[in-house]
Amino acid sequence: MSSADCFYVTTPIYYVNDVPHIGHAYTTIACDAMARFAKLDGKDVRFLTGTDEHGQKVEKAAHDRGIEPQAFTDDLSQRFRDLVADMGIANDDFIRTTEERHKDGVKALWQRLVETGDIYLGGYAGWYAVRDEAFYTESELIDGKAPTGAPVEWVEEPSYFFRLSAWQEKLLSFYEQNPDFIAPASRRNEVISFVKGGLQDLSISRTSFSWGIPVPDDPDHVVYVWLDALTNYMTALGYPDVGADGYKKYWPEAVHIIGKDILRFHAVYWPAFLLAAGLKPPKRVFAHGWWTIEGEKMSKSLGNALDPYELIETYGLDQLRYFMLREVPFGNDGDFSRAAIINRINSDLANDYGNLCQRVLSMIAKNCGAKVPQPLSDTETEDDKVLHDSAEALLGTVRKHVEAQALHKALEAVFDVVALANRYVDAQAPWALKKTDPDRMEDVLYNLAETIRRLALITQAFMPAASEKILDQLVVAAEERTLSHYPSERGRLEPGTPLPKPAGVFPRYVDEAAA
Ligand code: MSP
Repeated sequence: MSSADCFYVTTPIYYVNDVPHIGHAYTTIACDAMARFAKLDGKDVRFLTGTDEHGQKVEKAAHDRGIEPQAFTDDLSQRFRDLVADMGIANDDFIRTTEERHKDGVKALWQRLVETGDIYLGGYAGWYAVRDEAFYTESELIDGKAPTGAPVEWVEEPSYFFRLSAWQEKLLSFYEQNPDFIAPASRRNEVISFVKGGLQDLSISRTSFSWGIPVPDDPDHVVYVWLDALTNYMTALGYPDVGADGYKKYWPEAVHIIGKDILRFHAVYWPAFLLAAGLKPPKRVFAHGWWTIEGEKMSKSLGNALDPYELIETYGLDQLRYFMLREVPFGNDGDFSRAAIINRINSDLANDYGNLCQRVLSMIAKNCGAKVPQPLSDTETEDDKVLHDSAEALLGTVRKHVEAQALHKALEAVFDVVALANRYVDAQAPWALKKTDPDRMEDVLYNLAETIRRLALITQAFMPAASEKILDQLVVAAEERTLSHYPSERGRLEPGTPLPKPAGVFPRYVDEAAA
């Protein structure tokens, strides 16, 4: 397979200073949907997630709890790994920055940047925000705090620097030659104007604490946690072995999905490091927005950080996935409210998609001898054609949107076809045809069953468990669940196949308290 048939998608690696919350689960779920879709669509996919374990913030969190950083990170990294497994995430790898494979790669990249003359020794005197693990200039501070609101401290220490100032023009021309490198477009403009504003050399080592990767040949310094962390995307593919199979295949197709707060690190520093080292930057950096919770910023001090386990327990995993990917245009900020998720569950999932499956499968069970209907008449009505053509076109539409990370648009397109199919049921009234024209009833129910098959093939990427149940109820063979079986000529249901007793897949959510 050439690398064009490959897809490499990454989540940020999560800081292990605290347990996972819904913000972390969000990026992972979005990446999972993209990875699943690409796999179903026949691509050779690598999906990476993991944990970011070095630096002052994590060291401080460990010491605050009276635990050694290694033991502390072992424990918290495992919590992230468990969450990934418990959410049924289809990642292919999980990297920890405390692993040898990673440390070797970071040292190699450092050495390379020394060789190219992009690193020099100097001294840093300025502001640092431990919470952001970021340096700030005096002029960036707002009321004595980082622009993110994080507290800052004055730092003066010997430090190695990366000659970022030398990369300003090269970065600008890189953005120009690669217009899709930063997405969405608004973010791209933001980054370009930041770079145009001028770049200062970047401090890339620290000496005032020790929890990090020692700088090659100068172990008093540890590598700045962002240079360490960003490199994970390559070390997981075998870097520094650029001849490694994984690196060759996947690196050119790398798409980093991140939150908007860490865009500067990914869209400015990271490509600068890579260009300096003579390596290719990733294909794309996509920044999504932030969730507020019931209108409020999610924060430790407010104690309103949502626990993904609680949400899955209350609403269901597929329901949570659907809500997060559908409710907010991917890239925008959004609000997570109980009322909004319940509304999505009850209207889109239970009333629309769930009810379509339920009523069609029940009518088939009752009126077609519990077998895939036998389409008999050879005439296709105008309504049949509209339904067929819309379903036929859906895959291309969804693919286009998923490849542009517009997951919400992909789901909107799916639910347009769900709505069309429901209108088709109402208009054709197969229950009435039973007496007047039983052959036509079989046609109608066949068309609907075939539409549901196709919808469920696509929704596997977004709601894997529920879609599997739908496909089971249509007795679609396991090996016929990839998108190559989407076209009717290849995958169509075999008339006469006995079907199991239908069972609902999207129950209504009844709010006990409200009821
Ligand atoms: N360790 C760095 C990333 C290094 S990647 C080379 C980091 N970790 S983090 O754990 O603090 O954040 C991980 C991701 O969670 C970020 O993309 C961030 O945007 C996201 N979110 C944290 N809170 C969030 C919300 N309230 N809403 C949406 N995403 C949020 O940054």
